[in-house]
Amino acid sequence: MTIELEQDAKAGFSASDCSAAFYEDSQVKLWNGDCREILPTIRGVDCVVTDPPYFLPAAHYAVRGQTSKSIGDLSILEHYFRGLLQEIYDCLTPEGVAYVFCDGQSYPIFHRVGYSQWKRIRPLIWDKGTSVNGYAWRHQHELIAYMEKDGSPKVPTGDGDVLRENAVKVADREHLAEKPSKLIMRLIQKSTKEGQTILDPFAGCGSALLAARDCGRKAIGIEMETKYCQIAVRRIHGELMAGNSRIS
Ligand SMILES: C[S@@+](CC[C@H](N)C(=O)[O-])C[C@H]1O[C@@H](n2cnc3c(N)ncnc32)[C@H](O)[C@@H]1O
Repeated sequence: MTIELEQDAKAGFSASDCSAAFYEDSQVKLWNGDCREILPTIRGVDCVVTDPPYFLPAAHYAVRGQTSKSIGDLSILEHYFRGLLQEIYDCLTPEGVAYVFCDGQSYPIFHRVGYSQWKRIRPLIWDKGTSVNGYAWRHQHELIAYMEKDGSPKVPTGDGDVLRENAVKVADREHLAEKPSKLIMRLIQKSTKEGQTILDPFAGCGSALLAARDCGRKAIGIEMETKYCQIAVRRIHGELMAGNSRIS
């Protein structure tokens, strides 16, 4: 049996589950597609670490000022994240945990839609060290919704729930929303053991996949945009050429 097949068996795949992966090696498997279609085929994952688009209502951004904000904006988000959290829940083993990047405006939705199903949901604070944008109070942190299923083991305490880790410098980013692999490694090391499987259904340029691999875990990624899959594969191969693929 090849290592790939062992990985497939552990994570609950069969060859007929999905079309061919965009990339696959002995530790990392990446699909180029819509996670809402692919997630139902994935089972037996130990930990999800993911960074979905925050999807704040349009009234907050592009057409701010042209439309009025309403509580209905939030109910649209609630519907989306309810479906997503259910898919994530179903992918995990009964002992599994999930880390979902969010912010102060989207965290309440995670808490609300996940409260009745997950054993525990807590916000972790990622302190990025420097502040950007914003007016009265500039953004210096993001949140990470940490969610445990019923069977997830107690992890010995020791770390506080504020994680200080510098953001990736804008000039070094391969994705506008790139998250630092060092931060993701801390999450993975806290909640999984070597050889276990990490899933990122919004993989972007592959930061969580790299972090998982570098921690000796297996990684499954899904990313809708082909250009980011290509960047992720290049990063996985360590063939990053400075200046060649930077986003503007
Ligand atoms: C916030 S970014 C993730 C960035 C990532 N953490 C990194 O460090 O590169 C979210 C990513 O999810 C992708 N995406 C959005 N909707 C998706 C979907 N339904 N299925 C798969 N990928 C999706 C976007 O193309 C984007 O690259």
